[in-house]
This record gives sequence, structure tokens and C-alpha cells, in this order.
Amino acid sequence: MFRPLALFLACQMALPALAQQTSDTVAPEAGTAPTAFGTLSDAARTAMENRDAGRPVEAQDWMVVAANPLAVEAGADVLRDGGTAADAMIAVQAVLGLVEPQSSGLGGGAFLVWYDGESGELTTLDARETAPRRVTPQLFQTAEGEPLEFLDAVVGGRSVGTPGTPMLLEEAHRRWGKASWPGLFDDAIRLAEEGFEVSPRLAGLVADDPEGLSRFPATAAYFLPGGQPLRSGELLKNPDYAATLRKIAAEGADAFYGGSIAEDIVATVRSAEGNPGQLSLGDLADYRVVERPPVCAAYRGAQVCGMGPPSSGALTVGLILGTLEPYDLATLGPRDPESWRLIGDATRLAFADRGRYMADSDFVPVPVKGLLDPAYLSVRSELLRGDDALPEVSAGEPAYDHAQLRGQDESLELPSTSHISIVDADGNALSMTTTIENGFGSRLMTNGFLLNNELTDFSFRTHADGWPIANRVEPGKRPRSSMSPTIVLRDGKPVLVIGSPGGSTIIGYVAQALIAHLDWGMDVQQAVAMPHLVNSFGTYQIELGTTAEEMQQPLADLGYEVKAAEMTSGLHAISLGTTLLGGADPRREGIALGQ
Ligand code: GLY
Repeated sequence: MFRPLALFLACQMALPALAQQTSDTVAPEAGTAPTAFGTLSDAARTAMENRDAGRPVEAQDWMVVAANPLAVEAGADVLRDGGTAADAMIAVQAVLGLVEPQSSGLGGGAFLVWYDGESGELTTLDARETAPRRVTPQLFQTAEGEPLEFLDAVVGGRSVGTPGTPMLLEEAHRRWGKASWPGLFDDAIRLAEEGFEVSPRLAGLVADDPEGLSRFPATAAYFLPGGQPLRSGELLKNPDYAATLRKIAAEGADAFYGGSIAEDIVATVRSAEGNPGQLSLGDLADYRVVERPPVCAAYRGAQVCGMGPPSSGALTVGLILGTLEPYDLATLGPRDPESWRLIGDATRLAFADRGRYMADSDFVPVPVKGLLDPAYLSVRSELLRGDDALPEVSAGEPAYDHAQLRGQDESLELPSTSHISIVDADGNALSMTTTIENGFGSRLMTNGFLLNNELTDFSFRTHADGWPIANRVEPGKRPRSSMSPTIVLRDGKPVLVIGSPGGSTIIGYVAQALIAHLDWGMDVQQAVAMPHLVNSFGTYQIELGTTAEEMQQPLADLGYEVKAAEMTSGLHAISLGTTLLGGADPRREGIALGQ
């Protein structure tokens, strides 16, 4: 019963004429009962109240926002003790892997954007999972060459890519850490050994997936003890996870990429009954975090920066914003259907380019410069000059120094994942989106953590109409992502840190929140709580049970097919001005804490 209140208050400020929502319009999976986090600090409880009342959390020196209060408290402890944003992220991620295991963890991958307070430089690190060297482009096809059903591909060893998160933690600490490495795992180890209260969201998602979670004995024993799904508020211990963290704390990421943990991962993947995979010890030993050039797009005098390929996030967000730049969204405002026609069709155009051009740039040349070139963006902007929904959209022709024919993509990405935003007292800012892909990943568990199913972010088909698809499976390749960890710079200084989970809808969530903040003047809490309207592929999705539904008829009148759906983003944002303001998405369990 908390979320409708938050949305109501946010909308009262931002969308006065749309704020007719009643408290019976709650979407499933949204509410967060504070009683489920019995051991929280007063500050965390206040932060929850702020979130649910639609108010941002204010601080002077540092701020951390993530998807679970226990994880946020672990990060806050590190920042309070003088640790950097990179140190705090490690503590947050270690706890998230325990208390929000369905979304991210050691068995997954992540992208990290770092603004360095001292040098003013922006760095992006790619810790995306990697396809094993033994896979073939037909990995997700039947013997007849047809794509597998999505869940048949997800559940089991076939979908597991080489995890990147443990090496990212070590790399971030090596570059930017100040705190002692082993101590950063203390909170997670304590919670894993002494137990933590299962959150309502975790319990709800376990209850929704009895079939997947019962497929493999280790996973079933943990999530369905005695055959019963975990209950909200129940104390849960994970000694295997504690032992894994102890090893990583003592030996670094090498303890994960070699030795007994690596052997267990490989054995779990290769012996997965009914759907084994091909991950090898060599794949784990070869894994590397890759530094990539940041991708920045100009918007309203700011630079919106994020992760380039293999993520499509920053490029597609940049395409949406660049296409919208000539239009005066600030004057139109969020209540005018014209704003949503422009945003919806800009998003569809951007997704058409994404499907044609974006994939792992180590394997496929991606026209990053051409797509964000002002001349190209202005061609795309002109397509929005009409009055009604574009009847159809297709990829454009950005300047490109490669001649290649490409088929249109066929990748399915379902909502999952987690986002961490942190600013520290040294002026560093960190934006990291972290994932094991589908909720509970491949459903395979070993050493206390779940293994990802990230390889299903590849296109299951290799070709469309005879032309090769950029995001097809290839050995050693990283699947295209939609994760959009973002830092917005103005005059070279960070003004906003933001990102979200949500599969391919991440891009729409982040773009909308950026527009809400930069064009419509919403504070970060209003911007992340605002009801969603996203059109990536032709159907306008509007958020079920929110004031967004008031746009249903106006959008249909413009020619869109419109569908009200649950849209469970997990936007976590920090704005940097005279003070720090933190906003946590009321659709999940996250909070902002600062000092
Ligand atoms: N698996 C979600 C993403 O990478 O976009």
C-alpha cells in the first residue's frame, strides 16, 4: 500500500491534472513493507518513509542508492568511514548478492561508469559475461534451426556466460579503492552467517517461480527449503556464500576464476540436467574486465554519458535524447500527449538503429560516432515533424566507415537486474548496473550464488532475411546489453548519477527519468517515481495502475497500439547541486542514504 501514495505525491507535483489515482490501483510486486527489514537503522527507516512519501533524501558529503536497505547500509558504513564510492560499491554488491540474489551477484556481470573527483576523467568498465569459446552461433536453436523457447534456453547451463562481477570488484578497488579489501566483505559475511530477513520482493519472486527454482537440487534446497518457498520476514542464512566471500576477501578475484570455486562453476554448468552448457576452466581463466571509451550525447547543454558497446544503453539513450533535442518538451510538459508522441517515436527510431547496428564492438563494427553525429540526429528528428504516430520505423543510415549488410535483430530481454548509484566525499561518482539477467538467472546455484543466463541476451537467430544479425552468438563475444549506467556532466562536472534494471525497457526508463529531471524540472525522487510510458518496439506500454493510464485514449487517438502493463523499474538516482539529493524507485525495495 506504499507505492500508490508515493506516485500520488510525485504526480501531484508534476502532473496535477493526472493525479486522480486511488489507493486501490496498486501493481503487484510493488509494495515494500518496512517491517520486513527489522534490523534497520533509524536513518534507513526515515529513507524508506521519504521514498514512500515522494521526497528525496538530502545530504552534503556522500550518498548511496541501491535496491535493498541492507546493501545500502553496508555501503553507507564504508562511506562514513572515509571509503570511496568504489569501496562502497563492493560492500553494496556483496550484500545485494545475498539479499537480492535474483537480480545480481558474483555469478553475473556489470557495467561501471566512474567520474573521478580528482582528475575530472570519466572511465567506463565492461565486466559483461562472455560466451564460452566452445559455443556456436546455433547455441539457442533447435536441430531444425528454429529459435528455442525463451525459458528452455534460460534454465540450465547453456545460457551461462563467464561471470565478470568478481573481477570488476577487484579492478574497481585496484583503481579507486582506499579501504582495506577484506573488510569490504564483512557485512555480507556477517549477514550470510547470522542470517537476514527475506524481503517481500524476494519471497514474492520465489513464490512465482516454483518450477524454475525446483529444477536443480542446490537451488531448490536454498529457495524452496523442505519444498516450501521462502517466506517474507523469515531468517535466511547462506554459509556457502559466506565461505565464498571469505575466499575472495583473502585471495582476491583469483579465488573465483581458478581453484575450487571455478571447478564447481564449470561442473555445475556442464552437468546441468537436461540443458548442460559448455563453460570451461579456460574461459574463466581468460576472463578480463575491459575499459572502453565512454559514450556521451549532448542534451540541453549537458553531456549524458554511459557505457558503449557491448551495451546499447548509452548509445540508444543518446539517440533518443538527440532526436528530441530540437523539440521543446519543457514547454509541452508531461501532461501533453504531444510530448509522449515525440518521446515514443524517438524511442522507436532509436530501437530500430539499436537492432540493426549494436552489438559487441570487438566482433562487429558499430557506428558509434555516426549514430550520435548531429547531422544524423537531425535527419532522425525531422521524421517526427508530423502530427500522428509514425506508421512504421526503420534503421537509418549513419555515417559508417564499414560496408556491411545487417539483418534486423531478434533478441528478447526480460526485466531483471539492479542499479547502484554512489557519490563519495572526495567528489567521485559511480553508476553501476549489475545483473544475472533473468530473475534467478539460469537457476543454477553453486557456492552460495546463482549463475547468470546472460547468453540469452544474444539474438537466438543468426540471420534475418539472409543477412547476418549483429548480436548473434559467437565464441568469446559479449551479448548486447540494455544496461544504461549514466552520469550526466555539465561543464565537465557530474550533476546526475542514474540507472535502472528492466531488460530492454531500461533504456526507456532512463531516458524518461532524464527528461523528467532535465526538461520538466522534477527532483530525483519525482523523476524515478513518475509513472512510466515507454514505446520501444511499436506498442506503447503505459504503467498499469498509475496515472499513466490517463494517456491511454490520447495515445490511441494518435494511432498507437497501447497496452497497460506492470513496469517494474528500479531507478536509483543522485543529483549533485548545492546538496546531494537521492531518489529510490518506490517500485522496488531500495533506499537512498547520505550524510
Ligand atoms: N540482461 C539485461 C541487460 O543486460 O540488458
